[in-house]
Amino acid sequence: MLSDEIRSLAAERKAVILVHNYCRGEVQDVADFTGDSLELARRAAETTADVIVFCGVYFMAETAKILNPSRTVLIPDPSAGCPMADMVTAAQLREVKAAHPGAKAVCYVNSTAEVKAECDICVTSGNAEAVMARFSPDEEIIFVPDRHLGGHIAGLLGREYLLWPGYCPTHAALTAKAVADARRLHPGAPVLVHPECPRDVREAADERLSTGGMCRYARESSAKEIVVGTETGILHRLRKENPEKAFYPVSEKLVCPNMKKNTLENLRDSLKEMKTEVTVPEEVAVRARRAIDAMLAVR
Ligand code: 13P
Ligand code: SF4
Repeated sequence: MLSDEIRSLAAERKAVILVHNYCRGEVQDVADFTGDSLELARRAAETTADVIVFCGVYFMAETAKILNPSRTVLIPDPSAGCPMADMVTAAQLREVKAAHPGAKAVCYVNSTAEVKAECDICVTSGNAEAVMARFSPDEEIIFVPDRHLGGHIAGLLGREYLLWPGYCPTHAALTAKAVADARRLHPGAPVLVHPECPRDVREAADERLSTGGMCRYARESSAKEIVVGTETGILHRLRKENPEKAFYPVSEKLVCPNMKKNTLENLRDSLKEMKTEVTVPEEVAVRARRAIDAMLAVR
């Protein structure tokens, strides 16, 4: 079986397989660890494996490489990008910084290494509130690229940030009407959405959580039915870990095509042929690492 071949290749290569919660179920099932962006970055920072195979999107593998300059980091399909991460460039961020001297620059981890290199700190949806609470209210903050996550945190903390107008095309497709329809179909079930969703969707939900936060909520909640407003790949993990509970997507159409580029076949080929190696120029990696390390230091 393909999954047995993958596990034996991983042992041979002394490789750890890290998989994001949005990947296909069969890919999650061969992982050493499945998690959200923050959990995966922490795993990558702690690993002693010779090789990290990252099934997710490119910025996640790039973060793992920045944290492990001496280890080999592989991504099964290097074309698995995150369109949101490409919505702001380092040159554009430098322009905003020049127009706001003294402002702190914060990036969502869904950003390129070059953008991270321009930032004071980065955040994930799992730690954004804790990280942003550390800034004093009189500090000017530039937040890139996700206006929805940035707007969500600004609202929670009662602050205003200079928000870059980036967004996730997958989550942007979710509507408040779809949430209302899901509530009618599953009365009483709590509705969880990702903070990348537009504001009216966030307001229509009960909880706004990272994918790791959703997994914790599902474990700890006494609810027997839960409605989930994020990429549908997470349903595999939620159902597997909580077989006595029912999980319903707000919309079956919430699919991130890039996450789905990771397959058992290209994961096997990746380990077999040691491809495709992720590299980050040292000068960029050193500066980006400061922003990532600053984030990981916040507990
Ligand atoms: P999480 O960090 O919550 O897993 O989110 C990553 C992501 O890309 C969401 O679209
Ligand atoms: Fe990027 Fe959206 Fe896919 Fe997450 S779901 S990786 S933000 S495109």
